[in-house]
Amino acid sequence: MEFIALPSLSKRKSADVLVIPFWKKKDGVDIAAFSKELSPLVKEPLENKDFKGDLEETFFHYSKGKQEKRLLLLGLGSSDKASVENIRKAAASAVRACHRKKIKIANLILPEIAELFHEELIRGICEGMLLANYQFVNLKHDTLKENPFVPLEKCSLIGMNKEDEKVVNKAKKILSCVNETRDLVNGNADLVTPEYIADYARRLAKTHPTIKTTVFDKKRIEKEKMGLLLAVGRAAANDPAFIISSYKGNPDSKEHIVLVGKGVTYDTGGLSLKTVNMELMKSDMAGGATVLGALAAAASLGLKRNITAIVPAAENAIGSKSYKLGDVYRSYSGKTVEITNTDAEGRLVLADAVAYAVKNLHPTCLVDIGTLTGGIVVALGEEMMGIFSNDKDLSSAFEKASKLTGEMVWPMPLHLDYKKLLKSDVADIKNSGVRLAHPIQPAIFLNEFIGKTPWVHIDFAGPAFLTKPFSYYPQFATGIGVRLLVEFIEQL
Ligand code: BES
Ligand code: MN
Ligand code: ZN
Repeated sequence: MEFIALPSLSKRKSADVLVIPFWKKKDGVDIAAFSKELSPLVKEPLENKDFKGDLEETFFHYSKGKQEKRLLLLGLGSSDKASVENIRKAAASAVRACHRKKIKIANLILPEIAELFHEELIRGICEGMLLANYQFVNLKHDTLKENPFVPLEKCSLIGMNKEDEKVVNKAKKILSCVNETRDLVNGNADLVTPEYIADYARRLAKTHPTIKTTVFDKKRIEKEKMGLLLAVGRAAANDPAFIISSYKGNPDSKEHIVLVGKGVTYDTGGLSLKTVNMELMKSDMAGGATVLGALAAAASLGLKRNITAIVPAAENAIGSKSYKLGDVYRSYSGKTVEITNTDAEGRLVLADAVAYAVKNLHPTCLVDIGTLTGGIVVALGEEMMGIFSNDKDLSSAFEKASKLTGEMVWPMPLHLDYKKLLKSDVADIKNSGVRLAHPIQPAIFLNEFIGKTPWVHIDFAGPAFLTKPFSYYPQFATGIGVRLLVEFIEQL
């Protein structure tokens, strides 16, 4: 979508709609922009109380003789609750209303908000609109034929200055990476194989000369002795891949942020075959897609940071070659792992990846993210990510990034005493314990492989892939985590 800066209402060109923002007041609604010209246009719906100005409320009003065919009244809620996040939500609901009418060109009056900096306002509007202007092109014939998705193409922002273009361009760069992440996660598991993700990472290196991508194929993974990644990927027709993409934005610094994303391209559960939720498991590589998305965003913004994204990618299939319960596998780190549940595979592929990072890349900060447990969804619901950390500064940087982006994280306990849940009689550790503290177990397991590195573990099994749309997130892949990681890196 293209944004056009317009200093005033009189400069606007014709469009399919004029979006007018409103505050909700105790005794009615109030236009959130100063313009005498507007009040008479919206008199009718306001007098008839057809529109209340609630946050995310939208109301189309047809009035003749204007530059636009219709008006869209947009509710911002009450002004004492004004925030960037609420602006995002309102902007997103305006875009969704435009989709319903197949509107391609819009004029939008920027609200005047004393509570926010102008920059924050522009950021909220652009992010909200871009986040909502996406739909996974699915394969339903009637949708394709009778109700095709028409994205908004152009929006003039009335009240925007030339200097605001920096903020707009930044939002556009980040959101294009968010949408690529969504596409990767939404793709069929038979298409988005480990090799496909590897190709995607190679392409990133072509588009951004500052990115370098290295891919270990199965032979090389064997040579590196990544026994856990190999175990998980053994039964699949599609070979595993170990993907390393690096961006060096500050060559003079020793700082090195390493982002590791779970890249299980399909999770059947293996021999511990899944009985529920298997139809969601093409999304089990969302962590991998997210770290690549964040890396691409960092490169296109030219952040002065050194970042490496690692994706241990494998398909957890079932078959005669499946890795086996009761068997012991040797990890990259040398630690031995007894398999007690082949469906607890995320922590296994991540363990080899974080151990590789710690040994070879000397991270000053290590973050891993993945769709690890159903338990985190039970605990926090579909809208929040759980975060675990051994470092106060890192977790507070995440909480700050969470507030700024609206991508919600909730701190979970890295209670090391629970290591007893993973005690094995035949190996150094087992991969899964009894049904207690499920979301904490992978964190405790991974803690055994990261040494003293400052580290954050994120379980986003809830919000990575949604069965219903929520706020500005579409149904299916949300791309959540990309904006959070970029903001986190900027906050560090
Ligand atoms: N990929 C799943 C977690 C998941 C569940 C993601 C639902 C999204 C929606 C993960 O590999 C898994 O199977 N976890 C198990 C762990 C258990 C076997 C210890 C789980 O949560 O049930
Ligand atoms: Mn699993
Ligand atoms: Zn999984």
